Amino acid sequence: MINVERLTKSFRGRKNVEIAVDDVSFSVREGEFFTLLGPSGCGKTTTLRCIAGLEHPDSGAIHLGEETVFRDRVLVPSHRRDIGMVFQSYAVWPHLSVFENVAFPLRVSQERMTRHQVKAEVRDVLELVGLHGLDERMSTDLSGGQQQRLALARALVRKPTVLLLDEPLSNLDARLRERMRMELRLIQKRTGLTTLFVTHDQVEALSMSDRMAVMSGGRIVQVATPQEFYTQPSSAFVATFLGGVNLLPGKIVRLAPWPDGRGTHAVVEVAFGEVTGLVGSEGLDVGDSVVAAIRYEDVRVRRATRDEELEENTFPGQVAGFLYEGASFDYHVDVGDHEIRARIGSRNEFLEDGATVATTFPARYLRVLTADDPAHQAAAPDGAGAADQTETVRIGADAEAS
Ligand SMILES: Nc1ncnc2c1ncn2[C@@H]1O[C@H](COP(=O)(O)OP(=O)(O)OP(=O)(O)O)[C@@H](O)[C@H]1O
Ligand SMILES: [Mg+2]
Repeated sequence: MINVERLTKSFRGRKNVEIAVDDVSFSVREGEFFTLLGPSGCGKTTTLRCIAGLEHPDSGAIHLGEETVFRDRVLVPSHRRDIGMVFQSYAVWPHLSVFENVAFPLRVSQERMTRHQVKAEVRDVLELVGLHGLDERMSTDLSGGQQQRLALARALVRKPTVLLLDEPLSNLDARLRERMRMELRLIQKRTGLTTLFVTHDQVEALSMSDRMAVMSGGRIVQVATPQEFYTQPSSAFVATFLGGVNLLPGKIVRLAPWPDGRGTHAVVEVAFGEVTGLVGSEGLDVGDSVVAAIRYEDVRVRRATRDEELEENTFPGQVAGFLYEGASFDYHVDVGDHEIRARIGSRNEFLEDGATVATTFPARYLRVLTADDPAHQAAAPDGAGAADQTETVRIGADAEAS
């Protein structure tokens, strides 16, 4: 439904050219809720604005359904694109009532509508977003969540085929944000509207998306479902961007097929010994510097005796501290010189500070990943920007991620 091919957009400053979106390709399927997730400045908004027709891309192509809205000399203006949009500062019109806010897009549209039709359409969409009965209220007399819904109603009233949402929930307080997540998702499902959502909030992305793309430095580094992202990140950058993960730097010493025939396993020499895990990044070989990544909740920790024989992927450690989180303990365990974090359900045996433990990294949960941010890797060669006198700067790649 939305198809973006090799989209590039740069901004020319006085001294340099900033590449905000760098060769980005992705497709959003009909009816899908698709999210662009990434740190501040990685190019999410610029990508969305290109799709909306609010920025003129340098190159690439954008298709909405059957229609090509951007390519070479084709540039369909924003108001001709069949889209609805909600932005971070949802900007409802303060001098208009709820009804008039929603009716406005209908009044200015090319389609001629009778007053009766306008009224019916507005009523329907206010019903959909849960604002029925508030038609006559001034928009400024609404709560934050209601204003958010009003902005959504305004975007939906012309029945667009595509909905673009740029951090629409970030102005709301935490509790309201959580509720609006669920509501927004329900409205999206009810309407079956193809939706492209932009956020830098990992929980929002994981909880709302059918599929998502993680961006860094103007590039897409992985496209997958939320579950795949969480359990099968393709790089250390993506793994750390989504939830707590231990990263053990090391070198690959052996590669072998995984016992069930799917994938490859690697033995990695890390600071305190050899660990075995599943290869998660492409193109890795013996001798490569990698990180062995395992999520806090996948590490096992149990009380052990000092001279006990330990099984594979298991190392002696000592509890250095813990945080009680109600449902779980967040243990900090010294293994060699490394501090490992393990999230263990609080119904398990309590391990006090200083306890001698065996720390296990189950091989099926340990992923061997490229150490670098793939966006940076791809950026390295070819001395970009040397031809003209300007310097090419990759934006936002270092922000927040680490
Ligand atoms: N009109 C502009 N002129 C110059 N540079 C711009 C312009 N718009 C965006 N940029 C730059 O392009 C980069 C990408 O910006 P963009 O707004 O797309 O990031 P973002 O991922 O949406 O970030 P955030 O999460 O902070 O909203 C930023 O470094 C920004 O400074
Ligand atoms: Mg933005």
